[in-house]
Amino acid sequence: MTITIVGSGYVGLVTAATLASKNHRVYCVDIDKKKVTDINDGKTPFYEPGLQEILDKHLGTNLQATTDLENTVLKSDLSFITVGTPYSKKGIDLTYVKTAATQIGQILQKAKKYHSVVVKSTVIPGTTDTIVGTILSNQSNKKIGDDIGLGMSPEFLREGQAVEDCMHPDRIVAGGDLKTIRKLRRIYLDFDTEFIETNNTTAELIKYTSNALFATMISFSNEIAQMASHHPDVDITEVMKAVHLDKRLTPKDSAGKKITPGFLSYLQAGCGFGGSCFPKDIKALNYYAKSEGVPLKLLPAVIAINNKQPSRVVDILNRHLKGLKDKKIAILGLAFKPDTDDIRESPAIKVVKELKQSSSQITVYDPQAESNFKKLFPNINYASDIKSAVTKKQAVVVLTSWRKFRHLPKLISSTNPDVLLVDGRRMFEKKDFKNYAGIGLSQ
Ligand code: UDX
Repeated sequence: MTITIVGSGYVGLVTAATLASKNHRVYCVDIDKKKVTDINDGKTPFYEPGLQEILDKHLGTNLQATTDLENTVLKSDLSFITVGTPYSKKGIDLTYVKTAATQIGQILQKAKKYHSVVVKSTVIPGTTDTIVGTILSNQSNKKIGDDIGLGMSPEFLREGQAVEDCMHPDRIVAGGDLKTIRKLRRIYLDFDTEFIETNNTTAELIKYTSNALFATMISFSNEIAQMASHHPDVDITEVMKAVHLDKRLTPKDSAGKKITPGFLSYLQAGCGFGGSCFPKDIKALNYYAKSEGVPLKLLPAVIAINNKQPSRVVDILNRHLKGLKDKKIAILGLAFKPDTDDIRESPAIKVVKELKQSSSQITVYDPQAESNFKKLFPNINYASDIKSAVTKKQAVVVLTSWRKFRHLPKLISSTNPDVLLVDGRRMFEKKDFKNYAGIGLSQ
């Protein structure tokens, strides 16, 4: 099938690369000329494990980036809209979705065959049918379902595991008219997963509900962690590990073997969730529910708990160091999660801001996210490696659970054994350090 993907951000480019690897002819369209040139030159615009290899294999054959929307749409069977949907104070900002729909609609005036437009961007319930559908039919002078198709198929990929998630999706959710659904089925024919056929509004709500559930689990764990930290005998990690072994969270196969690995999926207490999805999507859903006259009670608490988590790390530092002024502190981890260079809504941003305000002397380090962080904080100290970051510091704070940090106990015991280690992700054992503190642990 020939596919146009409008918007070469995270979702767009990874989806394009994955579909190209399944033998579809894919065009990535973006208005950013430099991004288009970079992609065609084989340079990925962001760090994502495995993406480079797929681009190297398929670029120039069945994958191509371009700024030419008209040509590609007219050549394609289906277009995916994968542009950003940021959150503004007035709820979800649909500017980019509307622009994409308007441009595609105008082009479709000239289309000779049935072309389907499928929204993949995360949009609030009703957007595809009412806003995108209306724009498309008005601009093209064509009727949806008769002359052009309209669908909604959300993307569930996680940054850092995006290629793996796209190659092996847990499910494909697809809304739309009959012909569009048929095309989506063909596109995903080679994917060994469940195909959930539904309507556009349900597809939109499935995506929000999924993100809201995981964000709620994280804030729930962080709330219990806060309570746990008042009890000297309790460690939240031990609590959550035991809770997670319940077979409803850690299923077992018929032989009694655990099906999921023993990690605490979304029940891990820490400095909070960040990224390009959870924070904006939870706020957008909350705003939408309120404006529909059905305000939610749980999500405002999820947001409030999460907003507080970075300050909890600073509180721990303050308590242990007896004040923050002039204290030498290393921050390890700037990305919002490991295996990405993305710092959007990263807890590190709030922690660094607060520490700067308290006049601490901070040095930061991240294996991938340094250049993105420098755009926000050009004048702080950046260490070139972990060892130089932690040397001669009074405290070391871990905010991202990079695998590279796993050897920290060994490094600290040989270089700076008395340093205070504040574990913002609870990735270490208390016994591995002389001086250990963390979220959900009494001090
Ligand atoms: C998320 C959804 O998982 C994905 O399905 C959706 O398509 C986009 O949003 P992503 O933002 O890439 O994906 O990352 P994810 O791995 O879900 O982590 C989000 C945040 O939660 C990170 O900041 C992470 O550190 C934090 N987190 C995760 C916790 O604080 N505790 C946990 O137990 C798990």
